[in-house]
Amino acid sequence: MDKKMETIVSLCKRRGFLFQSSDIYGGLQGFWDYGPLGVELKRNVREAWWSDMITNHDELTVREGAPTTFQMTGIETSLIMHPQVWKCSGHYDLFHDMMVDCRESKKRYRFDHLRGRWGEHEGRRLFFTTIESDDAGFDQVNAKALKVFGMKKKYLDKISWETEDMLPITEIGSFDEVVAPDVDEPGTLTEPREFNLMFKTVIGALSTEEEGTAFLRPETAQGMFVNFKNVVDSSRVKIPFGIAQIGKSFRNEITPRNFTFRSREFEQMEMEFFCHPDASRDWYTYWRDRRYAWYVNLGIGSDNLILRDHTQEELAHYSVGTADVEYAFPFLAQGEYGELEGIAHRGDFDLRSHMEGKLVREDDCLVVQNDEDGKPKYKGSGKDLSYFNDQTRERFVPHVIEPAAGADRATLAFMCEAYFEDEQPDDKGKMQKRTVMRFHPKLAPVKAAVFPLIKKEGMPERAADIYRELKSAGIAAIYSQQGAIGKRYRQQDEIGTPFCITIDGDTAADDTVTLRDRDTLDQVRVKTSELVDEISRRLRV
Ligand code: GAP
Repeated sequence: MDKKMETIVSLCKRRGFLFQSSDIYGGLQGFWDYGPLGVELKRNVREAWWSDMITNHDELTVREGAPTTFQMTGIETSLIMHPQVWKCSGHYDLFHDMMVDCRESKKRYRFDHLRGRWGEHEGRRLFFTTIESDDAGFDQVNAKALKVFGMKKKYLDKISWETEDMLPITEIGSFDEVVAPDVDEPGTLTEPREFNLMFKTVIGALSTEEEGTAFLRPETAQGMFVNFKNVVDSSRVKIPFGIAQIGKSFRNEITPRNFTFRSREFEQMEMEFFCHPDASRDWYTYWRDRRYAWYVNLGIGSDNLILRDHTQEELAHYSVGTADVEYAFPFLAQGEYGELEGIAHRGDFDLRSHMEGKLVREDDCLVVQNDEDGKPKYKGSGKDLSYFNDQTRERFVPHVIEPAAGADRATLAFMCEAYFEDEQPDDKGKMQKRTVMRFHPKLAPVKAAVFPLIKKEGMPERAADIYRELKSAGIAAIYSQQGAIGKRYRQQDEIGTPFCITIDGDTAADDTVTLRDRDTLDQVRVKTSELVDEISRRLRV
């Protein structure tokens, strides 16, 4: 793992942002627990999304870049849904990755994650693989080749490599000459096989597997589609409008990795925006640009963030256009980006699938997929999910624009972006390394730390009063009186607290405190009576 990433992972554990799930039992791969600070950070990420989408949405004003005004509403749907949902959505048949097993190491790999290059020595030609696409991959492949060819490191240049780059294993025909990542001999990989990523469970104590099989949802999106009619019938929404949801999703990833980036249990923040087909392209552009701007406004530098339009080959089976917001995570090689969010134009695929049955694309048209007897392979609900516009008297099946974000990936990106090292003088004026998490104030888990300079002369009591005032104003504050003041500042910098408040000898005389800014390190005197307003003002940026 990259050095910066290793430092962030260790800070996360040391300061209580993130722990491996079931840590005391050695952990469970692909599952993570958020600690006392992590839970606040992630809550703030969710809250920033929800307030942008729902709470602060103004349905009377046309937002910049939007074609018209629109309405937004929230929903919370169950983790386990009717199994037919996943048949009609396409997940039952299509939501799989190709995997290969290693007969020797008993390890399983995602086929498209294996990379390697051909190396030849004394007439023996083998394809050496690794699962990493970053620079460490070359060291691993070199070391493996030396071992298999029975050579010492100094003879590395005696191996002739067919390519400079690592090639995807998907381009290799036969596996007889492939050396798997964790063994020292060729020919141990099985042929690639499909592996469905949905977690299975059985409903009800008396159910047999056959009749009671259900799935943990692999996305929150289907909860919005199957409730489209309920929402239209029960609320005053009119098209165009969006239904938003935040909740857990589950995918039995073959190779969970890169900290929380690819987990088996994770949280999504998804919104399905229902609009007239004729306006759908304009809405797609609007949501694509707006969602990119959300990350920038919360502090992700545009150097590290890209908006990438999918090529035709990349598009999901239902999509007529998709763009990804991608971030340059430190665990990726220079110039590579990892997906934070996909914004997809899904057309009428989902609503029609839940009405008519699972659809497939034929000659650029969506048609119901039939079985050998010419009957729908998976029957839809048969319910009418079209929309009637009572002003234009038009009935149509709405098109959908879907911005689908991951709360854990966004939280990880905000942590990576916030991580910063500099040098600052300590209490004795000596320069010391400082680690600072420069979270946007809205995201910082703790907003203000209150310190009495010393533990006497009434300072702790006055500091405790100020701490209580901040708390009762809804500002996440902490109180600390342990250690030298410089050390207390550094502890707060490391967890990203934007403001520190120190109560000192002058406080009793003029009722002012020192307010220190984490990023500029400016220190100003503020009247205690104005402190709550001042911090609230600074938090509203
Ligand atoms: N409804 C569309 C959908 O689910 P997706 O691209 O598969 O689209 C949306 O997922 C977002 O969910 C991703 O951009 C990512 O942020 C997050 N996500 C997906 N799989 C994940 C995983 N295994 N671990 C963490 N986050 C994941």
